[in-house]
Amino acid sequence: MKPLLEALRGGTPWPPPIWLMRQAGRYLPEYRAIRARAPSFIEFCLTPELAIEATLQPVRRFALDAAILFADILLVPHALGQDVTFVENEGPKLAPVRDSAALAQLSDSRAGEKLAPVMKTIAGVRAALSEHVALIGFAGAPWTVATYMIEGAGGSDFEHTRSLAYNDPEFFAALLDRIADATAAYLIAQIDAGAEALQLFDSWAGAVPASLFETAVISPTARIVRAVRTRHPGVPIIGFPRGAGSHLRAFAEQTGVDAVGIDQMTSLMNAAAALPSRVALQGNLDPVLLRDGGAAMAAETRSILAAMRGRPFVFNLGHGVLPSTPPEHVAELVSFLRGK
Ligand code: CP3
Repeated sequence: MKPLLEALRGGTPWPPPIWLMRQAGRYLPEYRAIRARAPSFIEFCLTPELAIEATLQPVRRFALDAAILFADILLVPHALGQDVTFVENEGPKLAPVRDSAALAQLSDSRAGEKLAPVMKTIAGVRAALSEHVALIGFAGAPWTVATYMIEGAGGSDFEHTRSLAYNDPEFFAALLDRIADATAAYLIAQIDAGAEALQLFDSWAGAVPASLFETAVISPTARIVRAVRTRHPGVPIIGFPRGAGSHLRAFAEQTGVDAVGIDQMTSLMNAAAALPSRVALQGNLDPVLLRDGGAAMAAETRSILAAMRGRPFVFNLGHGVLPSTPPEHVAELVSFLRGK
């Protein structure tokens, strides 16, 4: 069995499988070269020839155990009809959705058709991968996608989103349900096309007030996991509620995910003690250590391995690869890990 899938199903291959969040992207010169060929980032993601190449670039360069589909979490709002653009050096810009009238403008009737190129990318990548390398599909979790849809941009404190969650719970629940249902359909299509595992990125889970965590993170994630399982019970799902801290146990127990991604703010030892033993852990090297490389990276990698030995585990970062990372440091990390 592919080592990634073995670990996600509760096995303990050692040294553990490794892949990196944002392993494709701007830190690779070959990515920057093909990125320049598309008029916009959305079109780049929706052109199978380019997205297949971007997905395969890191897997060709480094001995990673998985490819992750090259796409973006904001393709779902785009497919629902929201206006989404990526502004150079500024990040995403969306036409904000803050009331039921704006929500009523969105529709999932054409979502499948708009996202069809992603399925071609998946099929093309799957055909090119060696027998040891697994293909991970992904989507954003509803809370994180909702923050972009409501704020209209990336942010840090999500004032509009939190305010609406408290003051207009009906609208907020309807928005989360809309995202969750579109996301479940999208993930099921990814598996139909060849994805072998899934990750749900909840990058901004750490900004959710404690009293809203169940409503905003756990219940919409559980809704997606249930829907995907009904169609594809055997495909492992990794939840990544970044910054969830003290909510990790409730998250793992109540969403039913197979594995939990751990950020670098959380100790793997504490996470391992808090989570049910059936749940695999993934993480959590600080992306800054990968950027800097050398002795500090090696020391932290060693202590991660010591903490996780004997436990179902997937080596990863605590968040995505930073654009300033020298690609040689990724090669250094992979060879250090393989020597263990
Ligand atoms: O991991 C991979 O290699 C697969 C590709 C991938 C991208 N985005 C490509 C991308 C994945 C898994 C994502 C997920 C994603 N997208 C998240 C969750 C993970 C995380 O980092 O927290 C989020 C929050 C987004 C939304 C998003 N996409 C933002 C905020 C931005 C702009 C900021 C930035 O880094 O530029 C993007 C753009 C984006 N997505 C780029 C890439 C390679 C850079 C755009 C470009 O190349 O022009």
